Amino acid sequence: MRILLITLGLLGLVACSNQPTEQTTSDYAVAMPDKFGAQVAIDVLEQGGNAVDAAIAAQFTLAVTYPEAGNIGGGGFMTIYIDGQPDFLDYREMAPEAASRDMYLDEDGNVHPTDSLFGAKASGIPGTVAGMWEAHQKYGKLPWARLVQPAVTLAKDGFHVPPKLAGRVSRYIKRLRDNERDSNFEHYFGAATEADVLFTQPELAATLARIRDQGPDGFYKGDTADAIVAYMQKTNGLMTHDDLANYHAKWRTPLAFDWRGYKVVTAPPPSSGGIAVAQWLGMVDTVLKTNIMPAHNSAPYLHMVSEAGKRVFADRAEYLGDPDFFDVPQSELMQPAYIESRAKDINLTAISPTEGIAPGLHESEDTTHFSIVDKWGNAVSNTTTINLSFGAGVVAEGAGFLLNDEMDDFSAKPGVPNFFGAIGGEANAIEPYKRMLSSMTPTIVLEDDSVKLVTGSPGGTTIISSVTLSIFNTLLYGMTAEEAVNSPRFHHQLWPKDTIRVHDGFNKATLTALEAMGYTIDDRRFGDLHLILNENGKLSAASEKNGRGKAIVRNTQ
Ligand code: DON
Repeated sequence: MRILLITLGLLGLVACSNQPTEQTTSDYAVAMPDKFGAQVAIDVLEQGGNAVDAAIAAQFTLAVTYPEAGNIGGGGFMTIYIDGQPDFLDYREMAPEAASRDMYLDEDGNVHPTDSLFGAKASGIPGTVAGMWEAHQKYGKLPWARLVQPAVTLAKDGFHVPPKLAGRVSRYIKRLRDNERDSNFEHYFGAATEADVLFTQPELAATLARIRDQGPDGFYKGDTADAIVAYMQKTNGLMTHDDLANYHAKWRTPLAFDWRGYKVVTAPPPSSGGIAVAQWLGMVDTVLKTNIMPAHNSAPYLHMVSEAGKRVFADRAEYLGDPDFFDVPQSELMQPAYIESRAKDINLTAISPTEGIAPGLHESEDTTHFSIVDKWGNAVSNTTTINLSFGAGVVAEGAGFLLNDEMDDFSAKPGVPNFFGAIGGEANAIEPYKRMLSSMTPTIVLEDDSVKLVTGSPGGTTIISSVTLSIFNTLLYGMTAEEAVNSPRFHHQLWPKDTIRVHDGFNKATLTALEAMGYTIDDRRFGDLHLILNENGKLSAASEKNGRGKAIVRNTQ
């Protein structure tokens, strides 16, 4: 069937490739960024916990074993499908009260090169602990302490450092030294530069034990809060006790839209990802109404998808921000007629001028993701981040966790790109207690009310392309989960002009043809995808092989 679908796809005949599937499955599965998270999550599912329980336990575990992105010092989004109902938890960081629009500009009005990326001043108020608590209050089955304990044990008794982690820590320390950064990172993580050594984190263990015993008060109040605030005061950070006490995670209505017979449930603002994926899928469909589907990963395919991406990112820069602060025109941006009109001038043989791609409504490196399905058919798609690898590069002394550098996701100055090259303006300007715009796009695709696909990825703005392409690759091109996570990906975000980012695995002739059209090819890594796919009643799960992820599928029988 899969080969047939691909063949049909190549012929441009995949108007609707979703064949009837057996919807019931007794499988349960996890796709995780590391083996520790995978084991802890599958144990929870085995012991009667649901997908949300497994997500909470995995989130705390990754805060210990995946320090480059797993966290209690950051935030994230959780897309949930439980008892037949979709839900969405926003535990994104918020700007401290003392934050202000121009806080990263120097006296000449230029954006400071590192203040929003490195050190305590780069940190938003962490949302993870409040988020996990909210998720547990609403949906948890197993006791809170049971879910936090594996993380406490791994921090206290230690874990053997995977070689890929040792490599990442070593390279990060070298970078800090080369750039003469004033950081306590080496003090905390220097022992994790050697593969296979037993690495313990006693301060983090004590913080996690307080969270286990006191819930969010173990983080936002008392000893942990005191340690965070003392570190802020010592190193020019902004966060106060009030900021910590005022943090709240938020339940939001997930974004949901129909696509080719499926229902896609995904992230609403302050993520840009859900609206972007809806527009991207919709524009490609518009083009395919009157054109033959180009061959998978051919130059015409990359060009067509990139042209849609340019229009997606023009809207992102203008209209998207925290909906509690900025009136995001969500329903207009999602209107099928609007999306169709945006795709009208896509030319399949030539690059449209970048400067001509305006927002359409008026004239005018490290995150991590995991996917879970439990034996009841509930699903969690969770993306979490401290922004760049190892966040702000500094540890809250006395509390033992890395601080995020999420403030860089705001627009520090209109038109000036952030680390991921994203530009923005008023919608995403810095304001006290505002959430910075995100690209994180945890997504669940439903077929006849059952989970068909759970997908998500790290990778800054490329998250949106990774999620879109994972939907194309599995549901349009019939790839297995394993094939989809390892399939080469590409990305176009309007600026830099006419630049397609690709990585590994593309045919040389494809790239040469794109260059001949006028594209610049930028070869850089993407984030690692973690997918679960229901293939005719059997779950398959996969984590991209470049990372250190692990996927496990079990059956109740
Ligand atoms: O929320 C966002 O869009 C970014 N902070 C995500 C950062 C990220 O994915 C880094 N990973 N490679």
